[in-house]
Amino acid sequence: MRKLVPSLLSADLWCLKDQLDILKRYQVDTLHVDVMDGHFVPNISMGIPLVESLRKHSDFFLDVHLMIANPEHFIESFKEAGADLLTVHVEATYHIHRLIQQVKTFGCKAGITLNPGTPLELLKPVLHMVDLVLVMSVNPGFGGQEFLPEALNKVETLYQWKREYQDFNYVIEVDGGINVSNVESVLSAGAEWIVSGSGVFKGDLEKNLNQLNKILLKYN
Ligand code: DX5
Ligand code: ZN
Repeated sequence: MRKLVPSLLSADLWCLKDQLDILKRYQVDTLHVDVMDGHFVPNISMGIPLVESLRKHSDFFLDVHLMIANPEHFIESFKEAGADLLTVHVEATYHIHRLIQQVKTFGCKAGITLNPGTPLELLKPVLHMVDLVLVMSVNPGFGGQEFLPEALNKVETLYQWKREYQDFNYVIEVDGGINVSNVESVLSAGAEWIVSGSGVFKGDLEKNLNQLNKILLKYN
């Protein structure tokens, strides 16, 4: 199932509840929460209290993207806060296999991701363990950056691997710089979950949702 996963990084926190009500009306059931610590990426964003509040007041599936150093120290706290899926960067740990085991032991779905400059092959030994692979189509750290088209090769390869290897059962998610003008190229390459921040929240929210949903419908 192809779907839109709005990134709250570009939401207006002043009126977050109103915006979430609108997302619900446009069939959004999953939210992408970008967690940045000022170390792994040169920016600081949202964290555990927001996840807690979203869990308490809504039933969105919470797709939490950890852009933090020492992610192993925070898995339990994010699980307790109510994250459904935790995506970790292969570059953020010496022990990616152990980290994915840890995420699963705490009862979360496990996602893995990689920076644009990291080769996909690095992920292969653990792809049988994960529920989701997130392809970064911008360098992580900021919303509103331009889409890097070289991400499409990674998406295509992940799509092929899924067909080739029986024990690969991940969802392919893509994140960064996606909007109405380029979403079709991402979908055509085989992406299933489309993360979009500024493409959803900047300008007219309802118009953006309407246009993106129309395009997604063609691929479902
Ligand atoms: C970037 C984040 C993205 C970001 C996407 O580091 O991981 O999720 O919010 O924002 P846009 O869609 O504006 O590129
Ligand atoms: Zn993200």
